[in-house]
Amino acid sequence: LPVGAAATPPLGWNSWNGFGCDVSDALIRQTADALVSSRLRDAGYRYLTIDDCWMAPQRTDGHLVPDPAKFPHGLTTLADYVHARGLRFGLYESAGTRTCAGYPGSLDHETSDARDFAAWGVDYLKYDNCFNGGRPAGDRYATMADALRRTGRPIVLSLCEWGENAPWSGWGARAGGSLWRTTADISDTWTSVLANLAAQVALPTGRPNAWNDPDMLEVGNGGMDTGEYRAQFSLWAVLNAPLIAGNDVRRMTAATRDILLNREVLTVDQDWSGRAGRLVRESGPLQVWAKPMTDGSVAVVFLNVSDDPVPATASAAELGLKPGPRTTHDLWTGANTTGPVRATVAPHDVVMLRVT
Ligand code: DGJ
Repeated sequence: LPVGAAATPPLGWNSWNGFGCDVSDALIRQTADALVSSRLRDAGYRYLTIDDCWMAPQRTDGHLVPDPAKFPHGLTTLADYVHARGLRFGLYESAGTRTCAGYPGSLDHETSDARDFAAWGVDYLKYDNCFNGGRPAGDRYATMADALRRTGRPIVLSLCEWGENAPWSGWGARAGGSLWRTTADISDTWTSVLANLAAQVALPTGRPNAWNDPDMLEVGNGGMDTGEYRAQFSLWAVLNAPLIAGNDVRRMTAATRDILLNREVLTVDQDWSGRAGRLVRESGPLQVWAKPMTDGSVAVVFLNVSDDPVPATASAAELGLKPGPRTTHDLWTGANTTGPVRATVAPHDVVMLRVT
């Protein structure tokens, strides 16, 4: 059983991609406010998670303590602040002796750490894999999951062991995880997005409480252009991936906001008809990804990995549609067309369609 339910892929924000170890009480409060004022919260981005480096370097009386310089008011009042804005509070730890950045890990401290997380008001635990001493992942994660369950608080458990132990093969869900990383860390580059995408091709589909996580969004972090960010967002949506923003939501360009707030793309991500999107064809620089929607339509992403524009078409058969008249809605331009499904895809960009 999952420790905390994730019937649809979690949506939210996490500090790591945009801020690394530079986390603070002020950042989290300002981000909570910005998630509300930007309307990201109302679009579904509910989980606000502090990643690594929130802790003091040593435990006190066996307990984790937030770094007093970064979080001078403690975490309980901060979680209250987050909850008061209709958001859920997420925290990071590692199933090892230390976190990846070297702070105290939860291995062999699961019972007391889980109690502290629950007492602080944690709703989501991103649980990493650094400094694990070679002990089996399934045991380490299940121990934390049991400890979280015993607190009685529903806490979504996000396994972060980079896919190296194949959590999708079954043990991830048995260990109480509701989502799990399937790749190494993403970076804010086109090469990294394509590499993490390629790693999804051979995976079994995710499902409710068992989502494949190709890592968090880089949208708006500055290393890619608008088309490349639109591509990451569209592809992650067709994959039913968790959509965890990692940019500075206090200062977003209009282009970044338009990507993160595209409701029709978010709807594709949150729609579950029995299987996630998959790569149906690769023709040179063109990839065709498709996913059946619960209303019988098909979400399609044409991805152009090359430096030149590429024409794209998709047949009814490869989309799993019956032959007959079709209407096609472009989720980025809003254009509606009838007849054959075709588009021209800009370099390093996507066209995302819903075909009915
Ligand atoms: C490794 C994870 O994969 C990242 O997402 C991030 O949580 C870092 N650890 C933090 O140290």
